[in-house]
Amino acid sequence: MPVQVPKGLIPLDNILPDEPLLMMGAGPVPIPARVAQANSIVINHLGDTMAQIIEQVKTMSGYVFQTDSSRILGVAGPGSAAMEMAIVNIVEPGSPVLSICNGFFSNRLAEMAERVDARVTRMHVREGRTADPEEVREYIKKYNPRVLTMVQGETSNTVLNRHLEEIAGIAREHECKIIVDAVCTLSTMPLQMDEWGIDAVITGGQKGLASIPGVSLVAFSSSAWQGIQQRPDQLKHWCLDAILANRFWYEKAYHYTAPVSGILALHEALRLICIETLEQRFERHLRCSTALQSGIESMGLSLFTSPAARLNSVVGITLPIDVDSKNLLAHMSDRYRVEISGSFGLNIVRIGQMGEQSRSHNIFRTLHALGASMFALGVKVNIPAGVAALESTLDEFIF
Ligand SMILES: Cc1ncc(COP(=O)(O)O)c(C=O)c1O
Repeated sequence: MPVQVPKGLIPLDNILPDEPLLMMGAGPVPIPARVAQANSIVINHLGDTMAQIIEQVKTMSGYVFQTDSSRILGVAGPGSAAMEMAIVNIVEPGSPVLSICNGFFSNRLAEMAERVDARVTRMHVREGRTADPEEVREYIKKYNPRVLTMVQGETSNTVLNRHLEEIAGIAREHECKIIVDAVCTLSTMPLQMDEWGIDAVITGGQKGLASIPGVSLVAFSSSAWQGIQQRPDQLKHWCLDAILANRFWYEKAYHYTAPVSGILALHEALRLICIETLEQRFERHLRCSTALQSGIESMGLSLFTSPAARLNSVVGITLPIDVDSKNLLAHMSDRYRVEISGSFGLNIVRIGQMGEQSRSHNIFRTLHALGASMFALGVKVNIPAGVAALESTLDEFIF
């Protein structure tokens, strides 16, 4: 009996809300119109037009990653695919790896290293703390890892590894390669890949870059690339094999059919960053995020992470007792059409400050939606005080 044509299918228009929700969670983030338009185009993935676009994507990425690396590869996949691409190509089976674990995503890097049979030591950082360089030094001395993995920003619990530069320096002193997940931070705050001596930096499209999910980037240092070229073993991964991916990204040849629309979207996202410049983009993100934080606190709510370890790209808010995050998120999206994120097990909700989320109009709307929804759920927040704090910190800037 053949499988029948399914019945009762609902057209997309009837599923999607009339007006899209304002995406103010931990990603994906709203995309600029140019990025959306580019994402609607399909072209030949191996033609001259694509080749020209790929050249520009690599050049612009070099600026965004702050690297002269001649090996920046795109991945058809989520940020996790870029994480895995860095791990499987750099980490050799049986080799010692140190993973600094602050939360969900840094643990994912450790797990990926374990899956390629590395001997992984996890340095667990206390909840809400930034990794301490001296502790990292002790671990490196004790375990002599060949590779260190860490996140710059731990989106899951809104912790920033503030001492990344110093930690990278310590790793370098011990000839240990360092892989950094900058999925939520790249282009929202400084990261100097070459100057800090980082061997692989990973990012996704859907966060700081303000592109679409599903096309990600990884940049390798020349020493990392040399190591990859000299690997004696054959990788078990085919799609993520950097040498094979290099065919498409540097030799205009076929690896797999590239996600052309997503690469065009990424091109536009990167171009908008280049037009804005990194300096101004960092300034915008910093001002917007700190304004949002002061608005939240002035309203009477508490931020989850202490200032010493606080990530600006994603802001965590401690939920008052008796507020269920599900009810809060539902109220915000049903009543105000604003979506923010819950968490992975913590008693917090998270508001993103990445890309287009860091615009005054989006922040005002989100703060009001948060305050009014808390109020509706019985929390005595002072909404005018929050909005006034936002006004006083954002007023003089037009973002
Ligand atoms: C810091 C960090 N790393 C990695 C990832 C994984 O990205 P993706 O969900 O695109 O696989 C995320 C996503 O939230 C993230 O925030």
